[in-house]
Amino acid sequence: MTKKPSTNLERDMGQGTRGKRQGKWEGEAPAEPKKTGNWRLLRRKRNDECSVGGLPRRMLNDRRPQGATLPIFLHKVLGSNQTATKIACEMDRRLQSQVVIAMVTKPIALFGFMGSGKTSVGKALAQKLGYEFVDTDEVIAQKFGKPISQIFAEDGEAAFRRAESELLSELLQRQRLVIATGGGMPTVPENLAALRTKALNFYLRVPTEILYERLAAVKDRPLLEGFADRYWRIATLLAQRERFYTQAQFIVNCGRQTPEQIAEKIFAWVRALDNDDDAVTVDLGERSYQVLVGNDLLSRMERIVEARNLQPPFAVVCDESVKNFGETVRERLSRLGKSEQVSVPSGEASKSIEQAISLWHWLAEIAMPRNGTLFAVGGGVVGDLVGFVAATYMRGIAYVQVPTTLLAMVDSAIGGKTAVDLHHAKNLVGAFHQPSLVISDLSCLKTVPDRAFIAGLAEVVKYGVIADPALFRYLRDNADLILRRHPVALRTIIARSASIKASVVALDEREQTGLRMILNYGHTFGHALEAATNFQLLHGEAVAIGMTAEAYLAWRLGWCDREILDEQTEVLRALELPTKLREVAETVPEPDIALLTEIMLRDKKRKGSIVRFALPKRLGETAITDFPVPDDLIADAWVFVLR
Ligand SMILES: NC(=O)c1ccc[n+]([C@@H]2O[C@H](COP(=O)([O-])OP(=O)(O)OC[C@H]3O[C@@H](n4cnc5c(N)ncnc54)[C@H](O)[C@@H]3O)[C@@H](O)[C@H]2O)c1
Repeated sequence: MTKKPSTNLERDMGQGTRGKRQGKWEGEAPAEPKKTGNWRLLRRKRNDECSVGGLPRRMLNDRRPQGATLPIFLHKVLGSNQTATKIACEMDRRLQSQVVIAMVTKPIALFGFMGSGKTSVGKALAQKLGYEFVDTDEVIAQKFGKPISQIFAEDGEAAFRRAESELLSELLQRQRLVIATGGGMPTVPENLAALRTKALNFYLRVPTEILYERLAAVKDRPLLEGFADRYWRIATLLAQRERFYTQAQFIVNCGRQTPEQIAEKIFAWVRALDNDDDAVTVDLGERSYQVLVGNDLLSRMERIVEARNLQPPFAVVCDESVKNFGETVRERLSRLGKSEQVSVPSGEASKSIEQAISLWHWLAEIAMPRNGTLFAVGGGVVGDLVGFVAATYMRGIAYVQVPTTLLAMVDSAIGGKTAVDLHHAKNLVGAFHQPSLVISDLSCLKTVPDRAFIAGLAEVVKYGVIADPALFRYLRDNADLILRRHPVALRTIIARSASIKASVVALDEREQTGLRMILNYGHTFGHALEAATNFQLLHGEAVAIGMTAEAYLAWRLGWCDREILDEQTEVLRALELPTKLREVAETVPEPDIALLTEIMLRDKKRKGSIVRFALPKRLGETAITDFPVPDDLIADAWVFVLR
C-alpha cells in the first residue's frame, strides 16, 4: 500500500525549527493554500509556544498520532466537533497576535532623534516578535543610579558615551532583541559600524515640527536645555545627526502614525528578511525605496512584496535566458494574487520601442490596472525596458527591479533611469521613474557568464575610485574571492555599491545639480569606444578602459598623482578587466582617434561644445571639468589606452 502523502499543514505542524526541506523553507505558504483560511496560520514557526484549551501546543503535537489532521485530533482529545472548531479559531487568533515567523534573529536596532518613538515602537515590535526589549538610555540611567541629565551634569557627556558604547557591544552579542538606541549612539562612528555589521537597523524619521510638538515642554533632555529657541535647536541637532541615522538599512518615514502601525511595518521586514541580508534605502521622501541584497531572496518574494505593501495583480517580464527566475518570481507572487509572466529576447535589441509597444499591448490584454505591480527580471536591458513601460503605461505604474546581472545590481536597477534605444543612439527615449523596490538576489549571479560578470566589476571599481577608498582597497585585497563569486564578498561589494549609488541618486535624482555626473567616471571615453567598435566590447570593458584613459587625463591635467592611475590599473588587472583595447579584443580594428573624439563631442553630458569629464582628484574624491580640455591631451589619453 502506498503511503498517503502528508499535507503541507501536517508537515509543518510536525516541525519546530527552520530548515530547508524539499526545496522549501518551513513556514512558507504551500503552493495551493488550503481553503480553510483559519488554518493557514498554523504553519507559522514557533507555534509550539502557545496553548490550546489549556494544553500546551507542544504537548498536542507530541501526542498527535502521525498522519492525524489537527481538527480530527483536537476533536478526539477534546470532545465535540464544535469545541474543536472553537478552540482552533481561538488558536488562530492567538497565533495571529503572538506567534510569528521571525527570520531575523540578530538584534533589531531603532535609530532616531529623541521623541521619535523608539521606546514605544520598540516595545510594540518586541511584543509582536516575542523578543526582549532594551532601551539603552534606561539601562544607563539605572546603572548610574540617576537620570541622564544628571549623568551629563555630574559625570560629563564623555562618561555617558563610554557607557553607551560598552552597553552596545554587550547587546550586539545577543539574539532576539529589540534595541531602542540613545539618540546620539549611532553618531559615534565605532557604534555605527558595529550596529551596521551586527544588527538590522531602522531609522524612525519624524519631521521636525512633530518632534517639536513632542519635546516642547519635556525636561531631562540635557542636549535641549538652555536653548531659548527649542525648535531651532531640534532642527539643528537633527540636521547634524541625519547623516548618521540614514545609514540604517531602513528609513521609516513615521509622520503621525501610531507606534503599533510603525511596529507592524518593521515587523513585516523582519519576517521577510534573513540575518545575512543587507539593505539600503534610496532616500527620496515619499518615493523612497529599498534595495535588498541577499541570498535566495526570490524564494521569499511573497513576504518581501507583502512587507513593501505592493499590490496585485502582478505582471512579470523576464529576459528569456533567465526564464526560470521569472517563473519562480511569478509562482511566489501568485500566492498573493493574480500573476502573469512574459519573456523578451535577450540582448540590447530588446531595448526598443517595438518591444515596449508589445509589452503595452500585453499589459492591456491581461487587463493590468493602474494599481498593479510590474516586475523586471533580468539585466540592465530588461530593467531599462520594463522601467520605461512602467513609466508610460497608464501614465505610470509601480514596478520592482529584480536584477540578475552584476551590472544591473550595482548600477542600472537603482536610480530610476529608464529608456529604450533608437537607431540614432542608445537610451534616446526614456523617463525618470523610480522603482518601488530592488531585489538583488545573489544566487542569480551563479549563472552569469564570466565575461559579463567581470565586466560588471568595472562599475564597482568606479564606485571605489569616485567615492569609497575602503571599497577600493577591499577590491584590491579580495580580488580572488570576488572572482570566485564568494557570497560574502559579493554581498559586501554589491551592498556598498548600491549604497553609493543610492546616496548620489538621493542628492541629485534628475541630474540637475551635477552631482550625479560623478557616476559618469570612465564613461565619456568608454561610450565613445563602445560606439566606435560597434559594440563589440561589453559596456563594463569599455568603462574599464575609459577609466584608465580618464585617470591618465586627470594626471596629465595635474588633478591627481600618477599613483591613482597606477593603483587603479593594478585593481582592474587583479579583477581581470582590460585597461587597453588590445587586451580585450585583438581582432577589433583600432578605431581612428578623430572618430573617437567626434563621438565624444556628441556625448549627452556635454555643455555647449565643451565635453565634460568626471575625473579623480584623489581616491574617493571626484570633480567635473568645466573648461575645454585641450584636444592634444585627449588624443594622448586615447593613444595611452589604444596601444
Ligand atoms: N538605467 C541605468 O541607470 C543604466 C546604467 C547602466 C547600464 N544601463 C543599461 O544596462 C544595459 C546593460 O545591462 P547588462 O549588462 O545587465 O546587460 P543585459 O541585460 O543584456 O544582460 C547581459 C546578458 O546576460 C544575460 N543574463 C542576464 N542575467 C543572467 C543570469 N543571471 N545568468 C545568465 N545570463 C544572464 C542576458 O540574457 C544577456 O544576454 C544596457 O542597455 C545599458 O544601457 C542602464
